[in-house]
Amino acid sequence: MVFKRNHLLGLEGVSAEEINVILDTAESFKEVLERPIPKVPTLRGKTVVNLFYEASTRTRISFELAEKRLSADTINFSVSNSSVKKGESLRDTAQNIEAMKVDMVVIRHSAAGAPHFLTHWIKGSVINAGDGCHEHPTQALLDMMTLREIYKDLENLRVVIVGDILHSRVARSNIFGLTTIGAEVALCGPSPLIPIEAEKWNLKIFYNIDQAIAWADVLMVLRIQLERQTQNYFPSLREYHNYFGITRERLEKIGKKITIMHPGPINRGIELDSDLADDSEFSVILNQVTNGVAVRMAILYLLSGEIEK
Ligand code: CP
Repeated sequence: MVFKRNHLLGLEGVSAEEINVILDTAESFKEVLERPIPKVPTLRGKTVVNLFYEASTRTRISFELAEKRLSADTINFSVSNSSVKKGESLRDTAQNIEAMKVDMVVIRHSAAGAPHFLTHWIKGSVINAGDGCHEHPTQALLDMMTLREIYKDLENLRVVIVGDILHSRVARSNIFGLTTIGAEVALCGPSPLIPIEAEKWNLKIFYNIDQAIAWADVLMVLRIQLERQTQNYFPSLREYHNYFGITRERLEKIGKKITIMHPGPINRGIELDSDLADDSEFSVILNQVTNGVAVRMAILYLLSGEIEK
């Protein structure tokens, strides 16, 4: 068995073999999810805590559903109704969770590195559900699963990640994951939103969206993360849309098959035209969400110790 990890903290350093094991396992669980009773006893007796310090719709529901489909006992923690409101630290929260003998912790936090920190205080497995601007590994895995369903082989597939790369944990995890399995990845956005470290990633960078679309098989469109921006990186959202927004007119001008992905939440009419987001000729956005449950079932299973490591 190639998957010997105790935690999933990011995709940096995760091998192609490991990624393929996760995606193959997720495919099997997708078949489970299509059964009349979409539930298996795999994690019966295991307890998973979902520790969400930041807002989430897709990731949180998806993890909870994955845990329930695997018959785990799940507990949801959110900052708004916990003792974090009274000043309790992440370390103390972690030590209390450990004292209650929890098997796995899923954590989303605004601080990059919070999941790594947790591994020092918790004996069970830690899964990163998004840490600051660092990584969001399960999002990238569900993106790769969705692309594998469409293209079968991702070797040399051309994926352009468009938009606010600087603040995007989704971009980082996809850059690590996609390049590891042989896809060609490029970035496109206003230069202040392309991180300086992009130079060391050795990726193609486009500053013109029409050139990026002409090169791409897949556009992975990102939200402008205004909540993380500490300065004005471009004059206005209208200007951003004019220069980098994905519009039907732009796609029709290039006139070729292209796949549009978005991790959500979408700012309709800013980074992506609303009708394109809903057009199944281009958009696989809801397929990504569907695959999220299967990918998270695979991760929970592979980390659970229910298989021989
Ligand atoms: N893709 C994603 O992480 O969405 P949520 O913030 O809704 O979980």
